[in-house]
Amino acid sequence: MKRHFHIITYGCQMNRYDSGALRTLLEERGHKWVEHPDNADFIVVNTCAVRQHAENRALSRLSMLASMKKKRKNLLVGIMGCVAQELGEEIVQKIPTIDFIVGTDKMAVVADIADGGVNGKIFTDIDKEFRGIDIPAHIEKGARSAFVTIMRGCDNFCSYCIVPYVRGRERSRSPQKIIAEIKNAVASGIVEITLLGQNVNSYRYDALDFPALLDKIAQISGLQRIRFVTNHPKDFSPKILDTVEKHADKIPPAFHLPLQSGSDKILAAMNRKYTFSQYLRTIEQIYRRFPDAAVTTDIIAGFPGENDDDYSATLAAIDKVRFAGIFAFRYSVRQGTAASHLEDNVPEEIKIARLNEIIRKGIHYAKTYSHNLIGTVQKVLLEGDAPKNPGFLRGIAPSGRIVLFPKNEFADKIVPVKIEKAGTWILWGKI
Ligand code: SAH
Ligand code: SF4
Ligand code: F3S
Repeated sequence: MKRHFHIITYGCQMNRYDSGALRTLLEERGHKWVEHPDNADFIVVNTCAVRQHAENRALSRLSMLASMKKKRKNLLVGIMGCVAQELGEEIVQKIPTIDFIVGTDKMAVVADIADGGVNGKIFTDIDKEFRGIDIPAHIEKGARSAFVTIMRGCDNFCSYCIVPYVRGRERSRSPQKIIAEIKNAVASGIVEITLLGQNVNSYRYDALDFPALLDKIAQISGLQRIRFVTNHPKDFSPKILDTVEKHADKIPPAFHLPLQSGSDKILAAMNRKYTFSQYLRTIEQIYRRFPDAAVTTDIIAGFPGENDDDYSATLAAIDKVRFAGIFAFRYSVRQGTAASHLEDNVPEEIKIARLNEIIRKGIHYAKTYSHNLIGTVQKVLLEGDAPKNPGFLRGIAPSGRIVLFPKNEFADKIVPVKIEKAGTWILWGKI
């Protein structure tokens, strides 16, 4: 039986990529994608377990979808991704009518279930060799930008983080497969690729390391821009900067370098394996070579044992680095992680107050970064019409900022735009 399917995706870009690859696989098997879950008879929720809040959201959506099964007899509803791997069977207790639970290494089974004739409903075995289903992820019509996963899993075991438990050990994909996938994307109109991995800096396939892979990818003709996430400060090397400099026309100096905390005591408790002064040295190298680099970061507020001094050290770190953007999170205990054995002892209202101040500071520096671009000419990757601003086109600057400019029929894939006005995350200009 051919299915009408829909995939709902929570979590990081890696989940979005996996959902896109699964979509291609299901379509190749003859099933039909539908834009709305109401029209589907096969619904998959791809889930994120990184914080309790993310997990709750995905599970409540799943319950709602499963409750539709009462009225729609042939509807199948299942879960995949990080929460499926984390909770496995437990999900049946929460949502008894769920049809399937498929872990991160087993995602291809979802297609077999859609085909019919699969026995059982829980597939959460670990497969240390699984490197993705090796099928080009679905590309939306007219899209200019796409993700390509270069590695799966993580070996870093930051003490707060569940990812190594739900995504398994680090595995790099072969450069041949990565390059073939990028060429294929370029042939269908893609000009910008974002390389994905929990820590792309530790990519290694035989003798090929991350800077060497980046160098190879930068030579693919037709590919105009390359981004990559995420970097780990302990593994970020000057060799990466050499490669970025060598391919300055293609690789923008935009670096997401999660700091997590400005306090050395907390960094050690988080098992991050760097001190703030080491982090700062990396940042200074970046700014020395790329004065207009966009450095963005992640910060966790209220990790166990974080006192006022630790928190002040984080604020001081933000002032020193002047990030182009900060993603800040309230610490969330994840069962099974090393930090889950520490007392979650920062009161919730203090966590929230610290989080809010970090966000406020983040916005201040994001605005400063954007304002400093006024008067410069930015090479903007054109995405298309600006949905909320009729008469304007929308594109992405090398820094990742959104740029809006008046419609121009001569606009090509990458357009030089002179910036005249700036908000926090959006720039306005003219060709
Ligand atoms: N591999 C990436 C992404 C990890 S998840 C990295 O190392 O940066 C993205 C962010 O979520 C992390 O950087 C961290 O800031 C945050 N995060 C992870 N676990 C968390 C937890 N238990 N509580 C709060 N934030 C968390
Ligand atoms: Fe989690 Fe740390 Fe791995 Fe990132 S590097 S996924 S924060 S364990
Ligand atoms: Fe979430 Fe899994 Fe990504 S836990 S952040 S979806 S790797």
